[in-house]
Amino acid sequence: MERLAGKTAIVTGGASGIGAATVRLFVEEGARVLIADTQEERGQELAGKLGDAAGFLRVDVTREHDIEAVVDECMTRWGRLDCMFNNAGFGGALGSIETTTVEEFDITFDVLLKGVFLGIKHAARVMRPRGAGSILSTASVAGLKTGESPHLYSVAKAAVIHLTRSVALELGEHGIRVNCICPGIVATPLAAGSPKASPESLKKLAHSLARAQALGRIGQPEDIARAALWLASDDAEWITGHAQVVDGGAFAGRPWNRQPDWITADRPLKLYRPEGR
Ligand SMILES: NC(=O)c1ccc[n+]([C@@H]2O[C@H](COP(=O)([O-])OP(=O)(O)OC[C@H]3O[C@@H](n4cnc5c(N)ncnc54)[C@H](O)[C@@H]3O)[C@@H](O)[C@H]2O)c1
Repeated sequence: MERLAGKTAIVTGGASGIGAATVRLFVEEGARVLIADTQEERGQELAGKLGDAAGFLRVDVTREHDIEAVVDECMTRWGRLDCMFNNAGFGGALGSIETTTVEEFDITFDVLLKGVFLGIKHAARVMRPRGAGSILSTASVAGLKTGESPHLYSVAKAAVIHLTRSVALELGEHGIRVNCICPGIVATPLAAGSPKASPESLKKLAHSLARAQALGRIGQPEDIARAALWLASDDAEWITGHAQVVDGGAFAGRPWNRQPDWITADRPLKLYRPEGR
């Protein structure tokens, strides 16, 4: 299937994890893709493997000039930008609210929120004149539910969801769709806590958290990439302002095997049975 035939995309954070899986899938589906990331070696290596359909640019999403440059590069190279995927991210500030510094606050919001804002802003600049485009961002289940991740990460991802919905209302009349994806736990270096996480540590993580979601396994980057493909493609032409949860059931709640006995044990209903029933 060539669901993105003739289309172009930019994927921030495209050198690793969810971004890298999306770059590979988009190219497989016929798109040409620019990988925008601070990890130069990994980004170049991936682009090299994909040939003419891919390129790499060193981009720090917190810098407006870098985002502007990658959008302009896409226009110069291919004359159009069909999909902007604002996906770059990191875990942000950790620990208690009292020990979190203002510097940590700033860097967390710079990467996780300002980076998304800049991506949307510059994608809109080139998509508006064509009257078409799909803007995607990676939010998180942590943006829908607290207690799943550090304070500021959760708040920044909630803001990404709100920004998505708010901007979708503006850009809809210009034919531009704006959506985000809310992954649950996905086996990537970010989830394992280190950019250099080994395949073994990712396997360990997958094993230890498998039962935390109803479908009995954590996510793989390809699970999220397939959602991004759908939202980027014309199959989603009537979808905007949407926060797509992709999480094996985690957001729905505790899996059956983790719910208390009074809920899960099969027994006849005795108490509180309405009279005559
Ligand atoms: N892995 C999970 O469990 C999970 C769950 C929900 C949401 N997410 C989100 O998914 C997105 C992708 O993360 P991942 O899990 O694939 O992790 P990852 O660490 O594999 O990839 C993140 C990429 O972003 C890049 N990056 C970080 N800061 C950047 C910056 N300032 N400029 C440009 N690139 C930068 C990194 O170099 C890296 O290549 C993030 O937004 C993350 O918050 C991840």
